[in-house]
Amino acid sequence: MSMTVRSLTRAATAGLVAAAALTAAAHSAEAADTLGSAAAGQGRYFGTAVAANHLGEADYTATLDREFSSVTPENEMKWDATEPSRGTFTFGSADRIVDHAQSQGMDVRGHTLVWHSQLPSWVGSLGASDLRTAMNAHINGLMGHYKGEIHSWDVVNEAFQDGGSGARRSSPFQDKLGNGFIEEAFRTARAADPAAKLCYNDYNTDGVNAKSNAVYDMVEDFKSRGVPIDCVGFQSHFNSNSPVPSDYRQNLQRFADLGVDVQITELDIEGSGSAQAADYTKVVEACLAVSRCTGMTVWGVTDKYSWRSGGTPLLFDGNYQEKPAHDAVLSALGGSGDPGDPGDPGDPGDGTLSCTATYTRTADWSSGYNGQVTITAGDEPISSWTTTVTLPAQQSVSSLWNGTPTRSGNVMTVRPSWNGTLAAGASTSFGFTVAKNGSDAAPAVG
Ligand code: G3I
Repeated sequence: MSMTVRSLTRAATAGLVAAAALTAAAHSAEAADTLGSAAAGQGRYFGTAVAANHLGEADYTATLDREFSSVTPENEMKWDATEPSRGTFTFGSADRIVDHAQSQGMDVRGHTLVWHSQLPSWVGSLGASDLRTAMNAHINGLMGHYKGEIHSWDVVNEAFQDGGSGARRSSPFQDKLGNGFIEEAFRTARAADPAAKLCYNDYNTDGVNAKSNAVYDMVEDFKSRGVPIDCVGFQSHFNSNSPVPSDYRQNLQRFADLGVDVQITELDIEGSGSAQAADYTKVVEACLAVSRCTGMTVWGVTDKYSWRSGGTPLLFDGNYQEKPAHDAVLSALGGSGDPGDPGDPGDPGDGTLSCTATYTRTADWSSGYNGQVTITAGDEPISSWTTTVTLPAQQSVSSLWNGTPTRSGNVMTVRPSWNGTLAAGASTSFGFTVAKNGSDAAPAVG
């Protein structure tokens, strides 16, 4: 029996599922006048970068939990944090973020598997053959730990140079393995977690320029040769030297037209007041105009912890007050609440969110069966869901896909992996394989 997701691995000592009742509940933590719920109404996620060491700060966590439907660990999943010495994986800080996100029904973006920066020195000292082995082992170790829990992974980050050449950036991977390291990383990543969207992520690729053209050519080549790539991330760090490009939407669209999703992955815009708000509006409108733009992530909760804190580039100020940029984003997302006053009773999404869960047996054989649960949102968008599956005592679950299970005795609680956000009336499903062990009874669906 294989245990395929982190929560199963960590909970392996608790044994596998069993007994009879399945319920579903929509999370009502985010009212429709929050960023996450407004984005959900557009079929998108709205995320933020999170630093584990701020999770103990009450205002930080309250703002995070109220407003956002996806999180990206800002530094905690990088190579130096997760494999500081060869073969020794350390997941403590990243686990803390993932656990917190899951407890709030938020999705998680993985950042990042292969990057020239925040790379421990031992990686740079390896010869080519060893480096290839180490790169693949790192991908397998990190993705394996979080298998089924990450909606999108930045598989390779910032592999192209700035400037006009469109050349690859020098790095241990590029210098020793050549252009093929990117393709190899994506192939390894696909095998490591087939459910995760695999993204290439970069900056200064937000408009049409030599660098984005080079990335475009690579994606086009990958698609033509069947190299597994699902999405391209546009970091979108903007300021007066690097403003929101006028062809931002067109650039997102041309990538989408290659057959990949696009995501805005690290958005921040230096400035303040109405000018900053107007720039944020441009970005949100561009994403909403591209059907394959599946979500946006801002690079931090509050200005005071931004990597560019001097430029006050985020949506909440240092006291967690909503800035004009916040209200502009909310409005651009179609948020119907009063900006600045989240969670008004009577607003759409005021806590009366609902969804239904239906169970179907999709395959059956003498010793086992496959079950599928379909979650359908009610007449309000939802940003997450929780389903409890209880099976007859003899039965055990050997694998589960498109959901994140945790278990306690006979009860398996399933939350989203990548599929928490549902527009009103929209559906998603997760599936699982059960060993009958002599019982053919069906799980109940509640
Ligand atoms: O945690 C240590 C702390 O113990 C030490 O006292 C302190 C001294 O400088 O450093 C702390 O680590 C810093 C870390 O952020 C956590 O704050 C590192 O020095 C600092 O280099 C690191 O910066 C991060 C940067 O990536 C590194 O390249 C930023 O937080 C992070 O926002 C930034 O994120 C990148 C994306 O991953 C990729 N795209 C660009 C983006 C912005 O640079």
